[in-house]
Amino acid sequence: MSDETFILTALHGDGDRKTALITLNRPKQLNALNDGLMDQLGEALLRFDADPAVGCIVITGSEKAFAAGADIGVLAQHDFISAYTSDLITRNWEHIRRVRKPVIGAVAGFALGGGCELAMMCDVVLAADTAKFGQPEIKLGIIPGAGGTQRLPRAIGKAKAMDLVLSGRMMGAEEAERAGLVSRIVPADKLLDEALALGELVCALGNASVIAAKECVNRAYESTLSEGLMTERRLFHALFGTPDQKEGMDAFLAKRKPNFAR
Ligand code: CAA
Repeated sequence: MSDETFILTALHGDGDRKTALITLNRPKQLNALNDGLMDQLGEALLRFDADPAVGCIVITGSEKAFAAGADIGVLAQHDFISAYTSDLITRNWEHIRRVRKPVIGAVAGFALGGGCELAMMCDVVLAADTAKFGQPEIKLGIIPGAGGTQRLPRAIGKAKAMDLVLSGRMMGAEEAERAGLVSRIVPADKLLDEALALGELVCALGNASVIAAKECVNRAYESTLSEGLMTERRLFHALFGTPDQKEGMDAFLAKRKPNFAR
C-alpha cells in the first residue's frame, strides 16, 4: 500500500452510531483514481462496514471533482498482458460491493469514467447542482472498465446509456436526475450537510432492517422479479423476529420516538 494519503476519513453525528465520511483527496489530479487511492478506499469501506459504531458511509470528493476517472497516466503504461494479469481496475474496485451498510455518494463537479462508475456503485447519489457525469473512455480508445456499460443502462436505460458511452459527452445534474442516475440534486454549498443529514437519519434506524432493505433493493437490480420477491418475502418475515420490529411498532402505537437496538 502507498505511504501517500489519498483519502481523508472522519466520523460525524451525535447518536450512538455515526456516519463515516470518506473524502477522496487527490485534488491536483481531480481525484483521479489510482491504485493507492482505490486500495485505501477499499480498506476504509470494509473497516467502517465492520465497525458497529458506524451506521452509514458517505463518499465525497472536492468542489471541482468527485473523481475525474481512473488515472490516465497509469492506464497509459499498460498493455494487454499487464492489464489482464494485474486485473486492472477490477482488483481493488469491487470492495464497495461487499459493504452491507448504506453508502451515500455526495457528488460535486466532475464524476467521469471511473468517477461516474464509483458514484453508480453507491446506494444513494446526492448530486450538487454543479455535478457533471459522463463515461468519456471512448475518447481514449477504450471503454468503461468498472461497470459503466452495465450499471449505466440499468440506471438510465439503453438509449441514454448508448448516447453517453458512444459519444463520451458529459451530462449535468438536472439531466442526470431526470434520467434516474442520481437520487436528488442539492445546492453545491449544502451537499455535505445534506449527505450527513441523510446519514444521521439512517444511523438512527434499526441496523438489521436497513441492511435488509439494501439487500432487497440490490436483488431487484441484479436478479429476476420472482427471485427478488422471494428475497423480500424471506427478509420481511425474518424482521418480525427482531427487537426493532417490536420497538418500531410499539413506538408508533404509543406515539413516541422509537429507540432501536444497535
Ligand atoms: N487521470 C489523470 N490525471 C487527470 C485525470 C485523469 N482521469 N483527469 C484530470 N487529470 C489531471 C490533469 O492531467 C491535470 O493535471 P496537470 O495539472 O498536471 O496538467 C489536472 O488533473 C487538472 O485537469 P485539467 O487541467 O484537464 O482540468 P480541466 O478543468 O481543464 O478539465 C476534465 C477537467 C474535463 C475533467 C479533464 O481533466 C478530463 O477530461 N479528464 C479526463 C476524464 C477522463 O477521460 N476520464 C476517464 C478516465 S479512464 C477510466 O476512468 C477507465 C475506467 O472505466 C475505470
